[in-house]
Amino acid sequence: MRHETVEAGKLITLEGGEGAGKSTQVSILVERLRRAGRQAIATREPGGSPAAEEIRETLLSGKIKPFGPFAEALLFSIARQDHVDTVISDALARGQWVVCDRFLDSTRAYQGVSGGVPAPVISALERLTLHGLMPNLTIVLDIPVEEGLARAGLRRAALDRFESQDLSQHERIRKAFLDIAEEEQARCVVIDARKPEALVAEDVWEAVAERLRP
Ligand SMILES: Nc1ncnc2c1ncn2[C@@H]1O[C@H](COP(=O)(O)OP(=O)(O)OP(=O)(O)O)[C@@H](O)[C@H]1O
Ligand SMILES: [Mg+2]
Repeated sequence: MRHETVEAGKLITLEGGEGAGKSTQVSILVERLRRAGRQAIATREPGGSPAAEEIRETLLSGKIKPFGPFAEALLFSIARQDHVDTVISDALARGQWVVCDRFLDSTRAYQGVSGGVPAPVISALERLTLHGLMPNLTIVLDIPVEEGLARAGLRRAALDRFESQDLSQHERIRKAFLDIAEEEQARCVVIDARKPEALVAEDVWEAVAERLRP
């Protein structure tokens, strides 16, 4: 019997505050990976699987806010588990490169650092929901809070639950992403997201090429 062995794909996550350019860069990176001959898919959180997409609006609308950050962490984690189990793991096993718009670091930053859910609780949720899966590369798009919010605000007038937090919270979230990148340098790269779109895309590609050799 002949066994085909498929080289596992890679999981690349894009993180950062509101309006940093994550969604823009996810699309560009997926196209670029395809041009490099890789099968690549774009996905996002919260959501990414049919069941998780069903609760995306609930999570972003603020309906869960009265239950507190721990409840939000739980719900984001449940959504993430479904996304991993029904979409990401299969894609990686088939050799696809998965580019995800926000992932576990957003839960660490928003519900953990900003919301005050203790780090050991966040770690426990990661262990329970990810079964050891970690991104092969995490790109943190870093931009001053006001610049990012201005970009996001240009796009839509009504801010969602997380965008409408006060500025000091956004500053804490920005710092949380930078701290994660500092602590996990083997996994993370910080990119200056103030540059024009095409230049940010160049830096993203350079990081992917250097770290993962697509
Ligand atoms: N490098 C850039 N320079 C200027 N404008 C940009 C840049 N990248 C993206 N934009 C614009 O800024 C806005 C926000 O970009 P995008 O939606 O990609 O950010 P995001 O990080 O996904 O935001 P959110 O956190 O709201 O999902 C969009 O209107 C986009 O066209
Ligand atoms: Mg986005």
